[in-house]
Amino acid sequence: MISAIRPAASSVTVRVPAKVNLQLAVGPARADGYHSLVTVFHAVSLFDEVTVRPADQTALTVTGEDAAAVPADASNLAWRAADALARFTGRDDAGVEIQISKRIPVAAGLAGGSADAAAALVACNELWQAGLSQRELAGIGAELGSDVPFALMGGTAVGRGRGEQLTPALAAGTYHWALAFGLTGLSTASVYATCDRLRAARAAAGDAPPAPEPQLSHPLMTALRSGDPAAVGPLLSNDLQPAALSLQPELRRTLAAGREYDALGAIVSGSGPTCAFLARDARHARELAVAITGAGVCRAVARASGPVPGAAVVRDGQ
Ligand code: C5P
Repeated sequence: MISAIRPAASSVTVRVPAKVNLQLAVGPARADGYHSLVTVFHAVSLFDEVTVRPADQTALTVTGEDAAAVPADASNLAWRAADALARFTGRDDAGVEIQISKRIPVAAGLAGGSADAAAALVACNELWQAGLSQRELAGIGAELGSDVPFALMGGTAVGRGRGEQLTPALAAGTYHWALAFGLTGLSTASVYATCDRLRAARAAAGDAPPAPEPQLSHPLMTALRSGDPAAVGPLLSNDLQPAALSLQPELRRTLAAGREYDALGAIVSGSGPTCAFLARDARHARELAVAITGAGVCRAVARASGPVPGAAVVRDGQ
């Protein structure tokens, strides 16, 4: 076989999607502090773009949605991803200039930080022509954030472990969403901690057993195979929702506004505070977005559809 030898690119741009969780079943806290979970990830068409170029020293700039809230130093997940890939491939002194153009809001339950890390891995893998497989990149990414492997894979997938062990899911059709962004972010760690606290209080009051082992919803998987959003909507579920609502009670009004306008499903996305509303079709998603914006219950509303592919190169500058 003759393989084409490509010249190294002078810049690489990668587009990466946000995710919503169609199911998020949270189990007990593990010894390492993470929670075992079963989740159904779904990548939606709200994208960040990450561009990398060779540089003497690593540097990072952020533009777009919530740019001021994103750290532009070595603590940024995209910077850490570039460092981790450089170490893994023996390029310890490889600097890279990283530009992040954000549309995914920060601390929103949409895995924006993990998305940027995934994009940086794909971009640097291409820039350095390192040739790592998606599986190898996912192994590096899982150390950076539980949602990084899914941002690489995209589509619809079942996540286990702490979310990093993935199996692609059979899902037919396209799902249309309105996404309502919260006024302020929520820390993922504090939402999980609140979930534990609420569960402990209920168990102490004798209202509920301690956290059960999480189980995949087979009715949801069947509905996804049917491609019928009306079947999927009522089966959306999120064990973190009570915790997100207790930290931001105003989200109840946001969810109620979506239900009032006939959303097929209304749910907090991941650890929140973004609320995801499943629409009948693209037109209904537009109507929902207008109505929820008008209700004045959130900062902004975006429309998105899914599933979409994971992190992928969109431009190579030669
Ligand atoms: O993996 P990631 O850095 O995105 O997780 C952020 C925080 O969310 C963790 O430090 C942990 O507190 C919490 N978490 C958890 N169980 C998971 C995933 C995240 O407790 N499965």
